[in-house]
Amino acid sequence: MSITEDVLEKIEKREATIGVCGLGYVGLPLIGAFRRAGFTVYGFDIDDAKVDALEKGESYIKHIDFDKLRVAVEEKKFIPTTDFGRIGEPDILLIAVPTPLTKTREPDLTAVEGTCAAIAKGLRKGQLVVLESTTYPLTTEEVCKPILEKSGLKAGTDFFLAYSPEREDPGNPHFETSTIPKVVGGHDADSMRVAEAVYASIIERVVPVTSMAAAELTKIFENTFRAVNIALVNELKLMCLRMGIDVWEVIDAAATKPFGFMPFYPGPGLGGHCIPIDPFYLTWKAREYDFSTRFIELAGEINTTMPYHVVDGVMQHLNERAIALNGAHVLVLGIAYKKNVDDLRESPSLKIIDLLKAAGAKVLYNDPHCPVMKRTRHFDLGMQSVELTPELLASQDAVLVLTAHDAYDWDFITEYAQLLIDTRNATKFAKKRDNIRKL
Ligand SMILES: NC(=O)c1ccc[n+]([C@@H]2O[C@H](COP(=O)([O-])OP(=O)(O)OC[C@H]3O[C@@H](n4cnc5c(N)ncnc54)[C@H](O)[C@@H]3O)[C@@H](O)[C@H]2O)c1
Repeated sequence: MSITEDVLEKIEKREATIGVCGLGYVGLPLIGAFRRAGFTVYGFDIDDAKVDALEKGESYIKHIDFDKLRVAVEEKKFIPTTDFGRIGEPDILLIAVPTPLTKTREPDLTAVEGTCAAIAKGLRKGQLVVLESTTYPLTTEEVCKPILEKSGLKAGTDFFLAYSPEREDPGNPHFETSTIPKVVGGHDADSMRVAEAVYASIIERVVPVTSMAAAELTKIFENTFRAVNIALVNELKLMCLRMGIDVWEVIDAAATKPFGFMPFYPGPGLGGHCIPIDPFYLTWKAREYDFSTRFIELAGEINTTMPYHVVDGVMQHLNERAIALNGAHVLVLGIAYKKNVDDLRESPSLKIIDLLKAAGAKVLYNDPHCPVMKRTRHFDLGMQSVELTPELLASQDAVLVLTAHDAYDWDFITEYAQLLIDTRNATKFAKKRDNIRKL
């Protein structure tokens, strides 16, 4: 039997074992999906604390069922480990490690390269390696493949290679891993067959494309589409503020068009691990081809200025009350990058708090999902969430809404706040009061 038929049969019988490298927001839901389909799964990470937490069932990501994973650990159906010496044990290896930007906004593939190097040391014949991390087109071919082939094995002959992007939307109750269509591109025909079979065993719809680069670009295009459209509404908002038109009313009215329009909403800036970062992966790669991605650059410019616009707006609204920002008490509501999650990565709230503090404001924050402001790549502000009481709200010169978590009671908040500055249209359904300003 060929190595292809062998692994296909193992997948069919659920006897193939899966190894997921990177036990984070993407890796853990994938592990859950393979477990539900009956596969035994290995979880590789360089972080001891995460492996310990998984063994004990201690949660480090809110919406993941750590109890179920702990039971799987006890049954030896889930093996979390930092021991990359075991990388040869699973039949399928999926890489879901971070792909951030460097300080100079260039792709930082350190984690992908490190993982591929660790895999190369133990790679064996017949294994499938799939990169799932978001990255620029041709990464799997030009970066991963040469590192993996240092094992002495050849892609497409000795081992299978593919790229398949993740479309996780943490906190979205309407979709889970198995119901989100999965795009897959293989290095060669056999790699494609094996990768398709693996994903078809956990996902309702697999979308094959003819190359790994097409799959890589699909993901970046999806996120660039969001970044550009968000920039467009952010620009529209700035114009509307000047013209005295309510941008949210305009978007809601436009969204009644039953075809050809999709609403995007303005905010205090882009956040999350994907949208602010991924387009710059494409920009960087395009430069190699003497191609300038002008839409992306412009969108980036507009989105990057939004936190500065918020701070200017706070200053102006305080000024109307003859209060200087320097020394003003400002309470920020919501620091996560989007509502109802505890994820602080690239959150514009951190930038805004940093700017407010630099201007001399005395800043407090409340976020029911983030009791402590954890250190991120760019900020270490060391703050803790304060309790929302009538006294606290009334004592602040401004209450600034940056993330509109569902847990907030806007009637309660606006009843006690002296001045409420709303960057999210959070108070849309709250009682109309003259202390509310949209920004
Ligand atoms: N979070 C999302 O919603 C989302 C959605 C789609 C795509 N993605 C992409 O998926 C990839 C992973 O993102 P994430 O959100 O799961 O990140 P994450 O930070 O939550 O998890 C990544 C994990 O990888 C581990 N890691 C780092 N270096 C490693 C190495 N050399 N070897 C093994 N493990 C290593 C980290 O310790 C961490 O546990 C990124 O490319 C991201 O852009 C994320």
